[in-house]
Amino acid sequence: MNLKEKMEKVALFAKEKRDRAIIKNPDYSARLIYRWQHTLRVTQYGKILAEKEGAEIEIVLIACLLHDIAKLSDRSRDVEHGRIGAKMVRPFLKEIGYSDEDAENICYAIATHVDGKSDFEHPHTLEAKIVSDADKIDRFSNYRTTVALGKFANDDYESLILAARKRLVRFQKARREIRIQTESGRKAFDEQISLQVVYMERLIADYEISVLPKI
Ligand SMILES: [Fe+2]
Ligand SMILES: [Fe+2]
Repeated sequence: MNLKEKMEKVALFAKEKRDRAIIKNPDYSARLIYRWQHTLRVTQYGKILAEKEGAEIEIVLIACLLHDIAKLSDRSRDVEHGRIGAKMVRPFLKEIGYSDEDAENICYAIATHVDGKSDFEHPHTLEAKIVSDADKIDRFSNYRTTVALGKFANDDYESLILAARKRLVRFQKARREIRIQTESGRKAFDEQISLQVVYMERLIADYEISVLPKI
């Protein structure tokens, strides 16, 4: 099986889990559909970072596609979802032909993507750092900002601006507190946040000039 076929198989495995979770709880359907779209974007970011950092691309791609499997199948949504996800995919990875070493490498990246902690012994790999970085880049996408502010679209202007100010604070906090582990990841994350900051600042500035000019 070549990498393209493996990726398709892994994507099918993940989507089947998502679809079963949707059937079980249709109320979660939008959230689960979003989770898969997020997964695909994380995989795209992971590919770029892996190429730039000289990591094993196959490990990164497969780990990215499976990193949120526990959320996607509605098994766990908390900080444990990485470690639970790793347990869920280990037998499947062997089934599709991964060696013990590769399967452990993929599982380690999945297990640690949230908080860097694993419940089994493994060196802290470049591939794991990349999966975690790629995930964090998508947490601050234009899409997330649009959805967050869209909730206020039908409210008054002040509520929207208040939400924009809160988001600005959130971006500053993210810059200080979120741990990005690779050089390329740091660059992409900074770019992502900077874009959002400029957007929020312009949104607030437009509000502030919605008055008569000072003479
Ligand atoms: Fe996650
Ligand atoms: Fe994620």
